[in-house]
Amino acid sequence: MKIHVTIYLLAGLVLSQLTVLAQTDTIKPGEVWPDAQGNHIQAHGGGIIKVKNDYFWYGEQRRQGLDTNYRYVSCYTSKDLVNWKFKNDVKIAKPDTVLDKWVIERPKVYYNSKTKKYVMYMHVDGQVKSTTPNQKPTSGYGYARVGVAISNKPTGPFKVLKTFRPLGHESRDIGQFIDDDGTAYLIFEDRPYGFRIAKLSDDYLSVEKEMCLIPYHMEGGAIVHYNGLYYAIGSALTGWSANPNKYATATSLAGPWTDFKDIAPPETKTYGAQSTMMIKVVGSKKTTVIFMGDIWKPKTQWDSRYLWMPVEIGDGKLWLPKPGPWKLDVKTGEATVIKN
Ligand code: GAL
Repeated sequence: MKIHVTIYLLAGLVLSQLTVLAQTDTIKPGEVWPDAQGNHIQAHGGGIIKVKNDYFWYGEQRRQGLDTNYRYVSCYTSKDLVNWKFKNDVKIAKPDTVLDKWVIERPKVYYNSKTKKYVMYMHVDGQVKSTTPNQKPTSGYGYARVGVAISNKPTGPFKVLKTFRPLGHESRDIGQFIDDDGTAYLIFEDRPYGFRIAKLSDDYLSVEKEMCLIPYHMEGGAIVHYNGLYYAIGSALTGWSANPNKYATATSLAGPWTDFKDIAPPETKTYGAQSTMMIKVVGSKKTTVIFMGDIWKPKTQWDSRYLWMPVEIGDGKLWLPKPGPWKLDVKTGEATVIKN
């Protein structure tokens, strides 16, 4: 009996030590970011929501060996935004028979506290097949729609309800913004016109009202509301290649927006990253805004990395410092960049 208890105690001690080893408090931009099982996090073009005490990170699952009949949206959870546990790959079947070479990109999930549903928006695209002999198939991004899927649980399964063009407009890269009052918005790139911000319906299942069109061609749209000002950021349209991301500000989502300015020295091309979201961490001592970007590796997508850094923000200015390892305390909201 005594021996058994001792063995259990020892095993418990070893396990707790291993857990301690697996935990980290440091975010290392550009490096492999292991999840709790040691696998590189696959949540590209992602978005993050907080529901009660848990953060959920959804993104493009791009690991090798996936069933190519489907596309997958990954879901990870965390309490501290640094240590992430893989929960599920949400399986998405082809949502429309007219599609060839289809993609699901930049998935974003909203939690609707009234309906208690998790609502996923995603960029659905691909080549639209020709239906008559005279008609040519479109380009690989000719569908230009959003897809909406719904689930009772954060980890799925999600049921795809529909695909559509929000308020009748083309929609490619999408971004998610939830304001301090809880109102949910979708940011979408409308190629002929620019960057649109629109409010979702009460049940989040449709895009209800356009707040504004920023007539500037931008992808990877992201917004944060900080100290009474809205800051919108985005990248130029250069596909997987990095470019200088820029920001503008406005006192209301409806604008007017200022001109766009660089968020980092333009020659660094945003240190090789493309914006996907800005997260605001409101802690007991500080409010920190984190730039979340993707460092794409087009030929080895599964090895694409992340650039997350706390930004310098305030009084209409936003600046992404040179990336380096940093620590985050979600409770106090303090971010500490580790000096070499
Ligand atoms: C980027 C876009 C990505 C993906 C890529 C394809 O500009 O932000 O989400 O669509 O183009 O080339």
